[in-house]
Amino acid sequence: AIERTFSMIKPDATKRNVTGKIIDRLESAGLRVVAQKRVWMSLREAEGFYAEHKARPFFGELTEFMSSGPTIVQVLEGENAVAKNREIMGATNPADADEGTIRKDFALSIGENSVHGSDALETAKREIAYWFSETEVVG
Ligand code: CMP
Repeated sequence: AIERTFSMIKPDATKRNVTGKIIDRLESAGLRVVAQKRVWMSLREAEGFYAEHKARPFFGELTEFMSSGPTIVQVLEGENAVAKNREIMGATNPADADEGTIRKDFALSIGENSVHGSDALETAKREIAYWFSETEVVG
């Protein structure tokens, strides 16, 4: 089915000026960018977005990193978009990522791993709504 998923290009990637190269990977795989903006999130916004990870030992590191520079937040649309985006991204830890994936080619570490993508359709709905109003998503 045609789905929408939430995607984010993280501060390590905006810093190295490789956002276009990453977006090309998404589009080349058949995903369409139906909403997009550049956001320098506050620590509070990062904490809200990643609230499900609050109890994890890396929560402070994660939220500080995500608010350390600009990110690109996006809505991607396409056939099987949630799973397809995760396939294109590769494993969370770049050391485990398959050849040809975004994280294999761009990520620096498990924390500075260049991209985020929703893990399920329900998560996607929540994450899209966190950053975008309905009128900002133009399919
Ligand atoms: P992401 O898909 O954005 O969702 C949660 C993030 O936490 C994950 O990608 C990683 O970048 C980050 N993360 C997971 N494990 C660790 C860790 N051990 N140390 C730092 N960051 C981590």
